[in-house]
Parts: sequence; structure tokens; C-alpha cells
Amino acid sequence: MSELNQHWNQVFDNKQGEQLGWFEDDISQTVKFIEQMSLDNPSQIFIPGAGTSQLVDKLYNDGHQLLLNDLSDSALSQLQERLTQDHDRDNDAEYLVQDISQPLAVDANSIDAWIDRAVLHFLLDEHAIQGYFDNLKAAVKQGGYVLLAEFSKQGAKKCAGLDVHQYDLEEMQQRLGEDFQLIAAEAFEFINPFGDSRPYIYGLFIRQ
Ligand SMILES: C[S@@+](CC[C@H](N)C(=O)[O-])C[C@H]1O[C@@H](n2cnc3c(N)ncnc32)[C@H](O)[C@@H]1O
Repeated sequence: MSELNQHWNQVFDNKQGEQLGWFEDDISQTVKFIEQMSLDNPSQIFIPGAGTSQLVDKLYNDGHQLLLNDLSDSALSQLQERLTQDHDRDNDAEYLVQDISQPLAVDANSIDAWIDRAVLHFLLDEHAIQGYFDNLKAAVKQGGYVLLAEFSKQGAKKCAGLDVHQYDLEEMQQRLGEDFQLIAAEAFEFINPFGDSRPYIYGLFIRQ
């Protein structure tokens, strides 16, 4: 188990819900962007670094097929337990415990929507960032969507005790390349459960 994996497992073993600095009771900001995607139902949705996000429950209830990734097996176990207990449907989510910067075992061009809130910004090393975008580009199909919601240049420099790489739309676009067209964006001030301001930049792209 890597140091990073241990770090995140400890976070999720020791804290839950509002004790987590990124916890959102109200998921409407991200949902607003998802509503701008013309998604069939069901769609194949990939969520890197899903954590224990409540957004997953909504997408699951909406009937989508979810591929849920996280470095932390603790987070994904909690998420799986919650989805299995709280919902009547058979659990048709897949769980992929791995570092998202490493090659991903997902079918090429199979993903209708890649939804990342507060994950990409933890990748600091150029190699790791490249690995993330290689995975994304291999997995997202033509006509598929990418939503990146990351700490902005005006945002905090750390989260969960770790340094972050702050983003703006220019860097998102440059790393995605010209196959991906920006269709919506917003600078959004998230107020975390402790009352602190955490400015994010949301960018929604479609693969042409
Ligand atoms: C700030 S939390 C956000 C969780 C969730 N996306 C949300 O909005 O509630 C970051 C998540 O990314 C996961 N994570 C961090 N680095 C990762 C990596 N390299 N690969 C996969 N997951 C990672 C953490 O375990 C954690 O669940």
C-alpha cells in the first residue's frame, strides 16, 4: 500500500460527512452542469476519486451505470455499503481501487461522462497529470462529456493536508487538447463545512 493510499484511507477511516472539508450536502452546483449534458439513460459514467460523495447516490438513483474509482479502498467500501443498503436496485456500479494516474482498465471510448470534483488537483507530478489525461482521453467516447471541478488559481493551496495544483480554464483546455470543446464554465465559491471559502473553477467539455 502506498503512502498516499494510507493517507486517504486514514482520512476516510477517521472522518465522515461534514467532518470532511470537501463534503457537500447540497450537490446542486455539480448537478447543474450534469443537466447540461445530453445523456441517455442509462449512460456510462466514470467518477475518478469518487470518495463518499452524495452525487454518486443521485446518479445511481437516476439509473446510470457507474464506474467508481478511488485510491482509497476505505472510501469505496463505505460508498458501496451505502449504495447497497440505501437502495432497492441491484447494485450495478463497478468499483476500481487504483491511482487514477496509472493505466486504467476501462474499455476504450466507452465513457459517456467523466465527472471529477476535487481529484485532478491532487496530482502534482507532471507524469501523474499526463497519466490522468491519457486515461481520460482513452476512455471518453466521441460526443462524451468531461466535467472538471478543481481548486482555482484564487483557491486554497492545500486540501486534506496535501498540496494542490490550481487550475484555470486555459490549462484544462490545453491539457485536454482541441478534440474537447468547452461548453460551459463557472468560477464557483464553495463554502466548506467549517465555513471557509474554497474557490473552484468548473469546466464542462464535450469531445468532438
Ligand atoms: C477531496 S476528495 C473529493 C471526493 C469526491 N470527488 C467529492 O467531491 O466528494 C478527493 C478524493 O480523491 C481521492 N484521490 C486522491 N488522489 C487520488 C488518485 N491519485 N487516484 C484516485 N483517487 C484519488 C481521495 O481518496 C478522495 O476520495
